[in-house]
Amino acid sequence: MSKLFKLFCKSFCIEKGNIKRIAVSDNNISFSVESVSMTDTIDVLISEDVIDARIRELAAQIDADYAGKSVTLLCTLKGAVFFACELAKRITIPVFMEFIQTSSYVGTKSTGKVSMKLDVDDSAVKDKNIIIIEDVIDTGRTLSVVKEMMQARNPASLKVCSLLDKHECRTVPFEGDYIGFTIGDDFIVGYGLDVDQKYRNLPYIGIVR
Ligand code: IMP
Ligand code: MG
Repeated sequence: MSKLFKLFCKSFCIEKGNIKRIAVSDNNISFSVESVSMTDTIDVLISEDVIDARIRELAAQIDADYAGKSVTLLCTLKGAVFFACELAKRITIPVFMEFIQTSSYVGTKSTGKVSMKLDVDDSAVKDKNIIIIEDVIDTGRTLSVVKEMMQARNPASLKVCSLLDKHECRTVPFEGDYIGFTIGDDFIVGYGLDVDQKYRNLPYIGIVR
């Protein structure tokens, strides 16, 4: 296959703007065009600069609260990963990073089951100063289950830090310890948050219209 043809195929896909995957080998080029076109209208709710400034404040607060100690940031994948990294970079006391992933199965509106898709060893939690890092607290179901699970592993201390809090949306009572921004009942994306896995990479928090 000629280089020119491969180039043509690539630029065709890029121009179409909705490529899922392009694979090019010596004899073969394949691409699938599916549902990743990013054409929704998104209004900026919280800009990158404002997020950055707030993360610095949260880091300073954590530095002060845990002075002379170390903390383990227990990041909930995938949404909180951008926030956890930016926060970790600004904390000056020793930081350890651990990752968990939950899935929630909601049968009806009133019942939800949260289970652990990816967990950590008990030893990562026992006797450690754990701060669970979340992207957004919505109904409160996920974090109330996760917090209970982690408490059972006897950490030295256990707190929750969430970039966003949709406080008015709780269906179970839950309070975070460190909150970046309290927001209303809008569906938001960006800075790690997704809709159908899209828009996690936006550097700001936006509302999908
Ligand atoms: P809850 O507090 O158990 O209802 O669930 C919180 C989780 O739901 C978050 O960690 C997000 O993964 C997801 N979530 C809630 N609201 C939004 C949103 O507006 N955009 C994207 N994900 C959301
Ligand atoms: Mg989450």
